[in-house]
Amino acid sequence: MSSPTLDAPAVERLVAAAVAAPSLHNTQPWRFRLDTDTRTVRIDAAADRALRHTDPVGRAVHLSVGCAVLNLRVAAAHFGWEPVPRLLPCPDRPALLATVRLAEAVRGAPSTGLYEAVWRRHSSRFPFSGRPLPTDLLAELAEAAHLEGATLRFPGRKDTERVLRATREAEWRNRADADRAAESRRLVGSPHSRSLGLPSAAVGPQDALDRMPMRDFGAHRHPEVLPARTFETRPTLALLSTTHDRRTDWLRAGQALEHVLLLATRRGVRASLFHQAMEWPDLRRALDGLPTDGPRVYTQMVIRLGYGPEGPASPRRPVEEVVDADV
Ligand SMILES: Cc1cc2nc3c(=O)[nH]c(=O)nc-3n(C[C@H](O)[C@H](O)[C@H](O)COP(=O)(O)O)c2cc1C
Repeated sequence: MSSPTLDAPAVERLVAAAVAAPSLHNTQPWRFRLDTDTRTVRIDAAADRALRHTDPVGRAVHLSVGCAVLNLRVAAAHFGWEPVPRLLPCPDRPALLATVRLAEAVRGAPSTGLYEAVWRRHSSRFPFSGRPLPTDLLAELAEAAHLEGATLRFPGRKDTERVLRATREAEWRNRADADRAAESRRLVGSPHSRSLGLPSAAVGPQDALDRMPMRDFGAHRHPEVLPARTFETRPTLALLSTTHDRRTDWLRAGQALEHVLLLATRRGVRASLFHQAMEWPDLRRALDGLPTDGPRVYTQMVIRLGYGPEGPASPRRPVEEVVDADV
């Protein structure tokens, strides 16, 4: 089977899909470059997009870039290539987080069927209905994470309470930390930069009962600014984890996260993320032993899943702003 032409519009389609990925506070911390000789897309971390206080070691940058790599792979397969990813391919270039070679597709290779979901996936920070997710769907989501080298577990009622408690504690600390609060506030509804950060409409309401630790991006907590609504009393949470905690594990966790989110979207399930506890080492460590009957792992993300309203689209930087020359 011959590969499609790798011309400028094709590259633009691939990169546009990659940048539709989620990222911490919608910072979009990535840059792309095509090496035409080897038909390889290189993805670098964008140092100027890092959040120094919220993400001091860059773990969330790796997770976000991992999400973009997954989208790029999905788009490449959709358009007829066989994507061949490599993580941290160049030890002497630490900012080069991944490459994806666009190889000739194997005859009849199935595409993942997730491409449409790349465009329909949005964080939904609204209350979900109490309808539980079918167990076969939970198994399918866990399998998606497993395919990417991560583990997805669904804590029971007691452990869910522990996760919510840790997230609530992290949320309070984030708001009390002047530097982190300023970083977050700068990226919400910023009139200066319409293609970065979160539009006010994406922020969503806060839980009237103060149980669900929805992120208060503006760090203001004024009911007149953030309306209060009642959230589901028994949320479905999923813990995404890896067996090690190296940079490659963070990139794998990002790909697993996006694979899970795209599959959920395809199945009509909404999601929002609780990353607050991941931003405080002691609170993150407290989640590593959950569920208490499982092996000790490194938690990379807490995902809230359910049925509810679709979240609004958030802005993205135009492709030409994130692509380096000679593409
Ligand atoms: C590493 C990471 C951490 C995130 N943390 C949170 C979070 O704590 N709370 C939240 O509501 N969204 C969180 N998000 C979601 C981003 O805010 C969201 O992806 C971004 O604003 C773009 O919006 P979209 O997901 O609707 O495309 C996180 C995303 C990533 C990749």
